[in-house]
Formats: sequence, C-alpha cells, structure tokens
Amino acid sequence: MDFGWRFAFGHPYDTRKDFGHTTVPFFFAKAGYGDGPAAADFDDRAWRGVNLPHDWAVELPFDRNGSGNHGSKAIGRNFPDTSVGWYRKTFAIPAADQGRRISVEFDGVYRDSVVWINGHYLGEEHSGYSSFAYDLTDYLNYGGANVIAVRVDATIEEGWFYEGAGVYRHVWLTKTAPLHVARYGAFVTSDVKETSADVTARVTVENETTTAAEFDIGQTILDAAGKSIVSAQVRQVSVPPGGSREFASTLNVPHPRLWSVESPHLHTLVTTIRRNGAVADRYETTFGIRTVHFDPNSGFFLNGKRVELKGTNNHQDHAGVGAALPDDLQDFRISRLKEFGVNAYRCSHNPPTPELLDACDRHGVLVIDEHRMMGTSPELLDQLKRLILRDRNHPSVILWSLGNEEWAIEGNPLGRRLTTAMHEFAKRLDPTRRTTVAVSGGWETGSGTVMDVMGYNYKSHGDADKHHAAFPNQPGVATEEVAATTTRGVYVDDRASVHLNSYDWKPSDWGSAIEDALVYYAARPFLAGMFVWSGFDYRGEPTPFGWPAIASQFGVFDLCGFPKDHAWYLKAWWSGEPMVHLLPHWNWPGKEGQTINVRAYSNADEVELFLNGKSLGRKPMTKNSHVEWDVAYQPGALVARAYKGGRETASETVTTTGDPSAIRLVPHVTRLKADGESLAVIAVDAADAQGRAVPTAGNEISFSLRGPGRIIGVGNGDPGSHEPDQYIDAVSAIPIPAWRVKSVQSAGNPPETAYDFDDSGWQSAFGRRDGGDEANAPAGALNVYRGVFQLPGDAADAKLTLLMRSLGQEQTFFLNGQPLAKSVRRDDGGHEFKLEPSALRTGKNVIAVVASPLQGNRGRRGRAAAPATVRVVKPAGVWKRRLFNGLAQVIVQSSLEPGEIILAAESPGLASAQLKVESLPARARPSVPPIR
Ligand code: GAL
Repeated sequence: MDFGWRFAFGHPYDTRKDFGHTTVPFFFAKAGYGDGPAAADFDDRAWRGVNLPHDWAVELPFDRNGSGNHGSKAIGRNFPDTSVGWYRKTFAIPAADQGRRISVEFDGVYRDSVVWINGHYLGEEHSGYSSFAYDLTDYLNYGGANVIAVRVDATIEEGWFYEGAGVYRHVWLTKTAPLHVARYGAFVTSDVKETSADVTARVTVENETTTAAEFDIGQTILDAAGKSIVSAQVRQVSVPPGGSREFASTLNVPHPRLWSVESPHLHTLVTTIRRNGAVADRYETTFGIRTVHFDPNSGFFLNGKRVELKGTNNHQDHAGVGAALPDDLQDFRISRLKEFGVNAYRCSHNPPTPELLDACDRHGVLVIDEHRMMGTSPELLDQLKRLILRDRNHPSVILWSLGNEEWAIEGNPLGRRLTTAMHEFAKRLDPTRRTTVAVSGGWETGSGTVMDVMGYNYKSHGDADKHHAAFPNQPGVATEEVAATTTRGVYVDDRASVHLNSYDWKPSDWGSAIEDALVYYAARPFLAGMFVWSGFDYRGEPTPFGWPAIASQFGVFDLCGFPKDHAWYLKAWWSGEPMVHLLPHWNWPGKEGQTINVRAYSNADEVELFLNGKSLGRKPMTKNSHVEWDVAYQPGALVARAYKGGRETASETVTTTGDPSAIRLVPHVTRLKADGESLAVIAVDAADAQGRAVPTAGNEISFSLRGPGRIIGVGNGDPGSHEPDQYIDAVSAIPIPAWRVKSVQSAGNPPETAYDFDDSGWQSAFGRRDGGDEANAPAGALNVYRGVFQLPGDAADAKLTLLMRSLGQEQTFFLNGQPLAKSVRRDDGGHEFKLEPSALRTGKNVIAVVASPLQGNRGRRGRAAAPATVRVVKPAGVWKRRLFNGLAQVIVQSSLEPGEIILAAESPGLASAQLKVESLPARARPSVPPIR
C-alpha cells in the first residue's frame, strides 16, 4: 500500500486547522460519521502526494525551540502546526474480492495513530513502533473506490532520541481466503542433532467462515535455492466456524545447512492449506536452522560454537531520510557494520521494522530485539506479544530485550516483579529464546537479581565481577558500552562548532574509550560480548552539547554511514582481516614543526611509521590496543606498514593534499531495479589536482537529476549542520469557503462576473461555512456564484491550481473577470484549473461561476470540504549540501520506469561531476494503485 498517498498537516487542538475534524455532530457517536479528512468524501486534492515510507519530521527545519533530544526539528509541543499529519489513500477493491478476508497492516506509525476506512472508525494505536492491523472485510466497497484515512499525532515523545513522524514504515493490504493461516500464525523451531535436524512447523489456521472447515495441511521446507528438501502432510483436520487451531508437523532435514554469522543460510517453510482439493492458502515463512545457547561461565554459543557478540546499538535514523528507511538502506547499513567486523545489532530501544530483521537474517547479524516500555498492563503486554509473534521466526534474533534503563524500577522490587512477569509471558510465546533487560543501576537489588540473561549497561555503573559472583548461574552481556563522542574527520576539538576529536578518549563519567572497553570484556569471557553505543550517529541526544548541535556523535559511523576512526578500531580487533588504519589526516598548514599525535589501528604484530620515506620507528602491537607516535608535522606522505610474523600484511598512506579541484560521485551500487524502491547511496567528495580526496574540503555542492529516478535525501554527518536533508515542493491550500450567489438572466459573460462587481447585497450561497447546505441557492435559470481568496505576496513563484466541485449542471468559470473554462459539465469528481500567474493578483482574487442549477443528488456531499480550494505549490529549491570534512551523501531512488539516471553535481571553482546509474527493468512488488 506504499504508493500514492496524500498528506497534509492537521492540528492537535485547533479544529479549523484540523480540517474541521471532530466538529460534525455524531462524529464519534455513529458508525460511518468520520468527519473532516476521516470522511470518505473529503476532498483531498489539495494535499501533497507522498509515497511510503514517509517521515515528515525530517522535512522540517531545525529550530532551537524544538526538542534537543528529538533532533531540534520544528515538531512537538512548541509546534502544533507541524505535529499532526493526515494521510489518505483512495484505492479500488475489485468485485471479485467479495468473499475474501482483507486487512490492512501497518509495520509501524509514529505515533498515536487513528485509522478510518470509508468514514468508519477502526481503532487507535499509541505505539510508534509496534506493528498493527485492522480487518477491513466488512467495510469495503467491492467493485468500487475505498478510502483509508490515518491521523498521526507526533506531539509526544516516546524516546529520548530522534523518532521521526508519520507512516514511516510499510503498509500492506493482505487478502486471504476465509480459511487461512493466521497473522503471525507460523512458528518454526528446530532441534539440531548429529547428522540431521528435526524442524517443527507449528501453524495456526483460522476459519472465518460460518461452517466447520475440513482441510489438509502440506508443509514443505525449501533450501536457499528454492529446492524442496522435505515435506509433511496433516490430513483431514478441522477448525470450527469462527475458530482457530494450531497444528504441528515435524520434518527431518538431513545434513542441514545451518544459519550462522559466516554463512547465513536461510530456509523457507511453505504451508499449503487444501480444502476439497483446492488450495485455500499458501503461506511462506523464512527461517534458519541453528542453535543458540547462553552459558553463565563462557558466554554465547551459536551452533555449539562460542561466538563473541561484537555488537552495536542502533536507532532507526539515517541522513537524508530520517526514520523512513527504504529496505535497501537497511541493507546498506547492516552491510557496513558487517564489513567492519560487527556481528550483532541491538534494536535500541524499540521494535524494529521487519525488514531490518530480514537484512540481519541475510547478512548473518545476531539481534537483540527490544520491546519499548516495561510493564504488564494489557496494552504493554500486547505490544510485547505482537513483537514476539511477528519476529520469532527470524534466525538472527537471539534475545528478547524486555526493557532498557527503566530508572524508576530497575533497582527495586517492582523491577523484579515486572521482569519476572514479562519473562514468563515471553517464554510462553517463544520457549526457544531467553530474555534480557538492559540495566544501568541497582544490579544487585532489582531486575538484575531475577533476569534471565543479565544486560549490563556500562561497566562504570556497577561491578560486573561482583554481580557474576553473586549470581553465578546467570549469563550476561554488555548491552551498552563506550558511548564515545567523536566527530568524523575532526582531530582538534572545536566546541563552538560542536565538533569533538576522533582520538580514543574517555568521553564521560559513564562511557569509556574503545580500547578500555575491548580490554575489559576480553578479560571476562563469562560475558557474551559487548554492544557499543552506538553503531551510527543519530539525530537528537546531542551529548555533550545542546543547540546548535542537532545530532548525537556516539556512532562509530556517522549519520551517513561514513566510518569514523572508531569503526576502524573495531575492525582491527573484530574483523580478523589484516589491516592498518592511520589517523589523523595530514593537512595541517600552519602547523609545520609542531607535534601531532599519529595513531595506527591494526591487528598486526608490529606497525612501522614513515614520514616522507623516513622511518619513525617500528612498534609492537598489544592485543586490543593501538600504537602511536608524536610526529613533528611536515607536509608529505605518512605511511604505515603492518607486519605479521615479520611479513608486511597491510599498509596505509595518508598524504597532504592540494586544494579541492574536482567533485567525485561514488555510488554503493551502479545498477538499480526499476521498482520504485531500489536505491543508490552515493558518496560525494572533492579531489585535488592529483586525484586525492581532500579530507578538509567544505565546498557546497548542488545536485540535479535527470532520468527515471529521484533524490530522496542528502546528508554529510556534521552533527552541527542545520542544512536541509530534503528539498521538496511546499504544498499548501487556500480554502474558499464563503460564497455569495445571485440569479441572472443571461449566460455568457454577465457583468456579475467582473472583478470588482459589488456583491455585498447578495445572499450567502451556502448555509454553513463549510458549504454543507445549499438551501440558499436561488431557483433561477442561472446562478452566479462569487468567492474570494487572498494571495499572499510570497506566492510569486508558486504554481496555483483551482480545485472546485460542481456548482451546476453546466458551468462557466471566471478568474478576476477573465474566463477560465466554458460550458463545463457537472462532474462529481470535481474540476481542476491551472491558474496562470499573469491572471492572478497579489491580495484579493475573485472566482465567479455562472451555473445552471444542480439537479438530483450531489456527488460530493460537501460535508467534509469547502466548495473550492486553491492548491499552492512552491517548487523545491535546488538540492545541495556542503561537504563536511571532505564528504557528503546523496541518496537516489529508482522509479517504476527503467532507464538511465544521471546525477550531476556542481560547485563554484570545482570541476563538476556526472554519475550514470542504470535502472534495469524489474518486477515491482505487487502494489495497490491509488485512484486519483
Ligand atoms: C544509555 C541509554 C541510551 C543512550 C546512552 C548514551 O543510558 O540507554 O539510550 O542514551 O545512554 O550513552
């Protein structure tokens, strides 16, 4: 359901700005009285078109009155005009769907969403992260148009980090037979033996017919290539009308290919429900065959082998797009982490989108899947239940996290009670996985005394050895550690610009240097490993600064996914690949002769440093550590050579570059799929005359795109940058609610249509301001209607469109006395006229309509909209972004048209660049087209 929605801002409390929502009598009293945009016949033509996933917060400007924790965007309590968003989509349901069960599923909406279908209220979901669904079957118009409306209120914060706003994850329309596998109805577990695995496929079948259903169940396991390995049948079972039942089959897979970090082999279970010989439902479940085990003395085991968890914590936030990450971007981020040796991911502090887990399944990344807020109220337990049922087949998920740093309870008896109760609840839904809670205090008094796997947040918050000694049967893992604050490419603090140096230093009283953390956990193999706070920078939580900082800098990668030096530090000790990385860069004009601290991160035995060919010494490397030299600066080339067993295994050169001379564009892929979703993440840098990237370049680069694609966001990883992430058309609407009317004798161009005709004595055309009652229209042969709108002075470059509904059987429209369109027949879908700038005036503009009286029923009941609206579209500015320490990022997404996409980049004084990305014909995923 992702394509073809319309979007506009509503308002949390001013009903006029909320399109009159909640003002029509019986709005919440009677079925089908959804009003304002919730009404089926609301005219949303003036709204902006958007595709999902969509995060409106990232489109907004930064503002010092915004919430710093949320990234200082102009949203939240202080910004009611931009904190409520409405989404509507009109779509067809074919007559042939009659008899099927149809539901709409949201992967997650931030937050407090209310959904209506065809004016009927369906329900509310408070969570900004939980998936939810509504059955639409009984409400739909089969063989006709249907409209779904979603009101989203992002005023309140759930987290203390950027969370986005809107329908920022996928929406699906699911159609099934009345006899079908239930939502989240499959649960696949495996018992791995010597030479085979017993896979138990549990499936819950739901019978939504009015009679008992008898059927057969077929279960087939496919390998990654789609080849069938083994099948089982359950014959002649039944489910009573309106009921559901679980059926289990055990399938023996000989010599299974196990899912692991190195080789994440995935299987598919295909469940087929056959009734009277015909297939009623076919349901696919991706799973992996693997064993997981936490040991109190030796950590974590995957398939019987100890695996150190080399993890990062992450929020769902990326440069350019905010919380609305297309699937390809999930993949990009997970592969980035994996390239640097990371093998585990904690979804801090909320349920992720399912596509994140799909990416972790594919890449072999182990996941701590986290619930949002601790508690045992029905609402909170239901969120936990949806999380577990939805995600329990993902082989990547190894632990359910029930909560994080619940300061009010983590150290006391209430924390103990809630932890125990939630653990037992989780265990009933998934007996195969253990649970954890990430705690920052009260380790020996609260949740930490009862939890299944202890989640230590920061070694500085307690004594892990003491805790382990007191609870020797409790496995543990460092759910958070490090929290270093460094800015990519910065080597000298510049606090006024909110930039902090990238050397490895202790960042705060709770955080630690990477080296310190690596050494500490290496000495404690009873722990399963550590999750560094954080993998990527994210907006909000701009520690240790406030405004003008707008993003955190805890990441080992920046907000774009460009590695900081800390990522190389982890790669040295986590990836096992021979490597050496040098810092800082070597562009220090004016510092000639001064001492600069040079560091090498490497997993070799020894590293030797050379400056302009002269050795500055070979130094032995200690495990989990680094080597460093104090070097008197002179421009030229710094070379590090890394040796293992006396042999050179890696080297790196850092040179002093010249000034920037040419832009370069480097995409992460050169081919896209023309499916409207696929994307290329493009790194932008500036090279000097010799083709070397200039690490200090700060040029502003402008971008333009030709061909079947679009730019969806730009970024540069600067935590202090207030540049826009997106350049989008600004769409607003000027309603024309008040009209006057008078009968006239002659058609054509009567004087009553003139710009300054005095209509003050005319009667008001509609009984109510919203045009809902037309009792006032005179019964003459022809009526002239006049409506006025004010055009603001800043609308000069805007494109204006008049959106009218029919006021007569036949009508002639005038703008400021000049004809717009003649003899237009009534159309219940309404009319659209482009308003030419030359015909418009700043200030007062007059629309006049000469109309023969309407006959019969009105198409649009008008309950929900003014008779006319002017849509004002101010075209987006040119896409641009400054390089930050030499780098920026542009994200380009395909459309449904194949062809060549050309991204051009230019900047004064630099040679421009062009990048061709081929968008190849592809089968787009099935989608429900909008009706315009
Ligand atoms: C933890 C918290 C994280 C983040 C981090 C920064 O206390 O769980 O969400 O705020 O501190 O160090």
